[in-house]
Amino acid sequence: MRKSVVFHILLLCLCWTWAHSEVDSDAIQTLDQGLQAEIQDVKINQAERTKQTNGTVDLWAELKELRDMTIELKTDLKHYLSRTEKLEQEKLDLEIRISSTEKEMEEIKSENADRAKVAFSLGLTNAGRLGPFNTDITLRFSKIFKNYGQAYNPDTGIFTAPVRGAYYFRFTFFEINNAHWMGIHLYHNSKIIMTNYDRSNTYYENMSNGVILELERGDVVYIVLQAPYTVYDEKRNYSTFTGFLLFQL
Ligand SMILES: *[C@@H]1O[C@H](CO)[C@@H](O)[C@H](O)[C@H]1NC(C)=O
Ligand SMILES: *[C@@H]1O[C@H](CO)[C@@H](O)[C@H](O)[C@H]1NC(C)=O
Ligand SMILES: *[C@@H]1O[C@H](CO)[C@@H](O)[C@H](O)[C@H]1NC(C)=O
Repeated sequence: MRKSVVFHILLLCLCWTWAHSEVDSDAIQTLDQGLQAEIQDVKINQAERTKQTNGTVDLWAELKELRDMTIELKTDLKHYLSRTEKLEQEKLDLEIRISSTEKEMEEIKSENADRAKVAFSLGLTNAGRLGPFNTDITLRFSKIFKNYGQAYNPDTGIFTAPVRGAYYFRFTFFEINNAHWMGIHLYHNSKIIMTNYDRSNTYYENMSNGVILELERGDVVYIVLQAPYTVYDEKRNYSTFTGFLLFQL
């Protein structure tokens, strides 16, 4: 810029000289040199400006890109954080549920451990026919298939309820000769609950029955063979007696 001011002053002087005297070849040469210098200057300036402009534009573009990236990252981070939070909450909920399920299982286990295990299944005898007798007798089922809780006493033939509850009992009796009648009572304490008789028209005869009883702790249940009647059993387990606790009350 300074160069161009000097050059313009020089040009003015020359014009003035031209107007008042003859053309000086030295002055023309100087003028030409000045012109060339100024053109060069403008070119350099132009290149410089273009370069700067390009650089500035690139920088802005890059900045903008960076800003966009930051915003995107921020959004992603926000989503990620909220998802992480949600997952943490779900994990917590699951842990709570697992621990409560474990607790329930423990309770069920201990309840189960506390629950009375009462179930028996018996065969009458391998001795063939029992009866007739002069008096009613309590049948002692001597073949123990199962006797969980040992509530049935094979020496007396009496079942004693270890807990208050609902119990199921059933029996089957068999005879092999139709000359004999079967006749039994099922007792709850001193009370007859069921009486069953049978005399088949065929050679073999069977009679079965079942009942649910509500028993207090210590109540007894047993089967009595009535004096004039008989029942039969042998190693094939024809005559059986079964009972079990349904649930406590
Ligand atoms: C300025 O950018 C334009 C377009 O990208 C390019 O053609 C030109 O060569 C660049 N100039 C300089 C001095 O970098
Ligand atoms: C009684 O039971 C025995 C043994 O299960 C069987 O052999 C017989 O046929 C039965 N008799 C009748 C009349 O059901
Ligand atoms: C009768 O019961 C006893 C169990 O006390 C068993 O060993 C036997 O095999 C049974 N007999 C028959 C014929 O099922």
